[in-house]
Amino acid sequence: MNSLWPWMSGDVSQVFRLAAVLCLTFVLLKVAQLFRKKQEIHRVLKNFPGPPDHWLYGHVKMDKWEQMATPGKSVEIFQSVSLMTLDTIMKCAFSHQGNCQIDSGSAYIRAIFDLSDMIYLRMRTPLHQNSLIYWFTSRGRRFRQACKIAHDHTDKVIEERKKALKDGLVLEEIQKKRHLDFLDILLCAKDENGNGLSNEELRAQVDTFMFEGHDTTASGISWLLYCMAIHPEHQQRCREEIQAILGDRETIQWEDLGKMTYTTMCIKESLRIYPPVVLVARDLGAPVTFEDGQTLPKGFPVILSIYGLHRNPTVWDNPKVFDPSRFSPENSSGRHPYAFLPFAAGPRNCIGQQFAMNEIKVALALTLLRFELSADPSKPPIKLPLLILRSKNGIHLYLKKLS
Ligand code: HEM
Repeated sequence: MNSLWPWMSGDVSQVFRLAAVLCLTFVLLKVAQLFRKKQEIHRVLKNFPGPPDHWLYGHVKMDKWEQMATPGKSVEIFQSVSLMTLDTIMKCAFSHQGNCQIDSGSAYIRAIFDLSDMIYLRMRTPLHQNSLIYWFTSRGRRFRQACKIAHDHTDKVIEERKKALKDGLVLEEIQKKRHLDFLDILLCAKDENGNGLSNEELRAQVDTFMFEGHDTTASGISWLLYCMAIHPEHQQRCREEIQAILGDRETIQWEDLGKMTYTTMCIKESLRIYPPVVLVARDLGAPVTFEDGQTLPKGFPVILSIYGLHRNPTVWDNPKVFDPSRFSPENSSGRHPYAFLPFAAGPRNCIGQQFAMNEIKVALALTLLRFELSADPSKPPIKLPLLILRSKNGIHLYLKKLS
């Protein structure tokens, strides 16, 4: 009896020994579980052709964005575009004046940038897939710290709005007072039993929007400006189109966006060659059998490379050539609906795609009206497919002010 229940006998060393054995057994079980899962994945995949191994060991380290250059020198634009899109999403979705572009050194901004990198690094490190192991590593601890900073900030934004809404206004009344935003809708949302979202649910929604809504658009805008810089003929055509739409006006209005036909074609072509989200992952809802008879079972995790699809020569002629005319109505009409997927497809596609397209149009229009863009040949961008498509050395452009 005593040997089975050592704490009853008061022998503490036996308790520790038993605990150690239990821990070891747990770790061994976890390792065996991971091993079995890996074997299963290998078994299913071994008959499929795959990319060469070196594809799986690409660069993971991202250089720090360089500071804006002084006049006469090229300017690294990715960092400043990211701060601009973060300000934009905070203002548009949460009516929050973040001032990221001024206060770029804030702990929150650093946490947001760090989190994107750390999520990607975790995905690429097999051992770190296991949360138990990950939380004990220094990276895991840094990730937690960054999460805390981001969560505290989000909680503050939600709390401020809750205070402002405490007199129990409903959506229609808020709408009469001011412009309705995403946070108002979340805070007023009720299920069929009249229950609102919990604080955790609210925070998860706000965080998703904050992340999905700024990094992706920053990548889209930065690569588009690069495309414009290396293709001056398309740059000029877009500028002329925008000038013709605006006339003497300096501000862009809602109706203008729908008229930017050629500009939209250039944006789509840039999203094709440089898709901000390079891949999407799904668990199969049903088994899939391919043309050659190979099958993947239900529940199997699959990854679709949007980057690979957009540059696949069987889907696109001369895929590496920047040719906006691919997106003219006549050239688009016969295309497979899933040939162009910058915003994914199906029930979990991007819900912010209209917003993103509009933001990209405004950003491009404002830039082209003020500057002539050209690339810095001494610093060509080096593509870095992290969670989103970045450039390892930033994107360096000469910005010549138009008279
Ligand atoms: C050029 C800009 C953007 C691109 C290329 C893009 C692309 C995507 C893609 C590919 C997905 C699917 C991800 C997956 O399945 O793993 C997605 C999801 C999502 N996007 Fe975007 N996005 C952009 C901008 C935005 C903006 C501005 C917002 C918010 C205003 C936004 C909000 C979302 C949300 C909430 C989801 C998750 C939808 C769900 O899971 O049901 N996105 N986006």
